[in-house]
Amino acid sequence: MTRFPIIRPRRLRENATLRSLVAETQLTPQQLIQPLFLKKGKGLREPISSMPGIFRLSPDEALKEVKELLELKIQGVLLFGLAEHKDELASEAYDAHGVVPETLKLLKKKFPNLLLIADVCLCEYMSHGHCGVVVEEKGRATIDNDHSLELLTRTAAVYARAGADVLAPSDMMDGRIQAIRDELDATGFKQLPILSYAAKYASSFYGPFREALHSSPQFGDRKSYQMDPANAREALKEVRLDIAEGADMVMIKPALPCLDIIAKVKHEVLVPVGAYQVSGEYAMIKQAGKQGMIDESAAMQESLLAIKRAGADFIITYFAKDFAKGL
Ligand code: PBG
Repeated sequence: MTRFPIIRPRRLRENATLRSLVAETQLTPQQLIQPLFLKKGKGLREPISSMPGIFRLSPDEALKEVKELLELKIQGVLLFGLAEHKDELASEAYDAHGVVPETLKLLKKKFPNLLLIADVCLCEYMSHGHCGVVVEEKGRATIDNDHSLELLTRTAAVYARAGADVLAPSDMMDGRIQAIRDELDATGFKQLPILSYAAKYASSFYGPFREALHSSPQFGDRKSYQMDPANAREALKEVRLDIAEGADMVMIKPALPCLDIIAKVKHEVLVPVGAYQVSGEYAMIKQAGKQGMIDESAAMQESLLAIKRAGADFIITYFAKDFAKGL
């Protein structure tokens, strides 16, 4: 008589201690980066309606926030600035007195061990909300890639001088990594690493972020520079190009809709791979949790674990603080 079944996977699931012994994936606060939205002023802590628990912070409030994050063992932040004045050349992006460089200086001085990552992009500072310079070509508005590179490079240089530990270009212009690398190397920042948003999709999950920074494109969309969600091989092409141009780490964005891309990229490259659980992913879990449809904390942990399991070495997430608090 055949014995059935010989192998019973459930044997390893009966006991919680045993389950934790054989867990294949671990997530620690050290692997999480908290994004921060910065706004000029004092004592500001402005809620963002679509992102409960996330605020626009003035530099002094950012200091308090970071102190709390460090106590929770979150050691990295990704900085975004809200523009005071927008124009067609994103001048505030490369203004050395902008809110990002000022906060970089402040945080660097106060918390030398904190990892300061500066998002490098122009959309927050452009009156039209696009990530590059808009020009008219054959009666149609398009983005001038190479002119945009000059402005991105200037922005990167300002953040480098202000004390950023890592620069993270998120604009998706062609050739930006090399342009920024050349600038850094020529100005004494040979050791400053670049984390490229290498495979960044034209995603509808960025909606709440654009509310936070008032950075929605005023016309058209970002499909001429961000990637088509239909494509996976193209993600590998973008990743390889960015590494060839000098990216030290690459990032995939958004995260949960791109688990296949994270896994493929991880398999393919030897640099660290990050994933960005974006504003819409955060908002969906928060809102569904608030309405009692799902258990927010469990859904947060499951989603982060899935992103890690897919291959992310680190995760940028608005849940970083919540996750660390829950431990
Ligand atoms: C800037 C930038 C965006 C995000 C990160 N950097 C917005 C966009 O591309 O529209 C989105 C982050 C998020 O949704 O949390 N280009």
